[in-house]
Amino acid sequence: MTTDAQGAAGSAAGPDWRPRAHFTPARHWMNDPNGLVHHDGTWHLFFQHNPEGPDWGNMSWGHATSTDLVHWTEHPVALPHDVDTGDQVFSGSVVVDHGNTTGLRREGDPFPPFVAVWTSAREGHQAQWLACSRDAGATWERCAGPVLDRGSADFRDPKVSWWEPGDGADGFWLMAAVEAVERLVVLYRSADLWRWELLSELGPLPQPPGIWECPDLVRLPVEGESGAEGHVLVLSGNDGTVRGCGTWYAVGSFDGVRFTPDARGFRRLDHGPDDYAAVTWNDAPCGRRVLLGWMSSWAYAGDLPTTPWRGAMTLPRELSLRRREGGDLVLVQRPVEEVRPAPGLQWLEVDLDVRDQPSATVELAGGSDGDVARLSYDRGTGLLSLARGPSAGDARPFHPAYPCVSSAPVEARDGVVRLDVALDACSVEVFAAGGEVVLTALVFPDGPMKPRAIPR
Ligand code: FRU
Repeated sequence: MTTDAQGAAGSAAGPDWRPRAHFTPARHWMNDPNGLVHHDGTWHLFFQHNPEGPDWGNMSWGHATSTDLVHWTEHPVALPHDVDTGDQVFSGSVVVDHGNTTGLRREGDPFPPFVAVWTSAREGHQAQWLACSRDAGATWERCAGPVLDRGSADFRDPKVSWWEPGDGADGFWLMAAVEAVERLVVLYRSADLWRWELLSELGPLPQPPGIWECPDLVRLPVEGESGAEGHVLVLSGNDGTVRGCGTWYAVGSFDGVRFTPDARGFRRLDHGPDDYAAVTWNDAPCGRRVLLGWMSSWAYAGDLPTTPWRGAMTLPRELSLRRREGGDLVLVQRPVEEVRPAPGLQWLEVDLDVRDQPSATVELAGGSDGDVARLSYDRGTGLLSLARGPSAGDARPFHPAYPCVSSAPVEARDGVVRLDVALDACSVEVFAAGGEVVLTALVFPDGPMKPRAIPR
């Protein structure tokens, strides 16, 4: 059975907030993207899912696939929670074991084994387990486990990928995971996914605030420098506030044992309120690095006013690094080109022009009930802001933490800040400074959003 999640209608009771070009589950609760892997023309997206209701709980892995990163087909639950033991299936990743390092491939199997590395979670204990699919991700079987257990209550979110050291040394499976409450990123290596050796631990550091979750260590190309690349550690942090719940990144170097962030440390990957637990696809074709985040915030995720689904993903974003004057490398995110002609997605090119005024503002009018968001740039502070809630004209916040203003420093070019903005039924994603600055926010308009410049 498959259901076309994107085709299902929204709530009969309220506006149709179901995004057209962002993944949402057909029904019920969703949080983090899990097991992102590309194989043979198909992008797999597993996700934290409660298959039985609209709230967090019964955590299982849902599953959807796409051939174009725009249209998604939802499949039956891949890894269900264990009803007998109460063990939940928390976040993790999937690798395709082309070399049969695990020995899981049986003679005659038409596909290489897909192996999921995921956190089995129960009160007071979290450890890493494996599951295997012999039919390219359609059905899954748990392997005996756990394969990695630190006797910890908060050891989770293993992101495993194949790491080629590039210095002639052998490649290995690299796992980045967290001790969430201790605020450590822990790195392990393995030759076969069964036996793991601790490489190093990083943290705690002042940023990101709160508990640390969902790390991902990737290698990214430097724009315009043939063959040049940098290492980037993506990491989410959550201190329970809207401002303190988000995805961060550090540029640094991984020497096969230790990741050392550069002097800048961790910086925000997304300055808006709604991009958490973002991780990248394994094995994306043509060396692409594609990132996907959960477009929500733990501060109010359980109160989002959508039904029969709750939770959406961000647009998939292509990652690279850019060298700024002085040598500093910054992360660049661009919506993948596939979403440019996506039906139902509205693209705006907004120029905030402060050549002869101290600030410039564009409102997003959201149907009959006023504005839902406001984008502005202040020449004096150099800050780009995205406001939503009453300060942007939306008088119906559904949660006290929802109204907010998020800002990020951006340099105006010849007095103009140019924004590339993607609007879907309930989201605003702003790409500024050629993708160096991104702000993502949920909004809940009455009808289709329209931009309106505020006269000075
Ligand atoms: C991040 C997170 C992960 C955990 C999962 C549980 O949002 O808290 O650390 O594995 O969600 O649903």
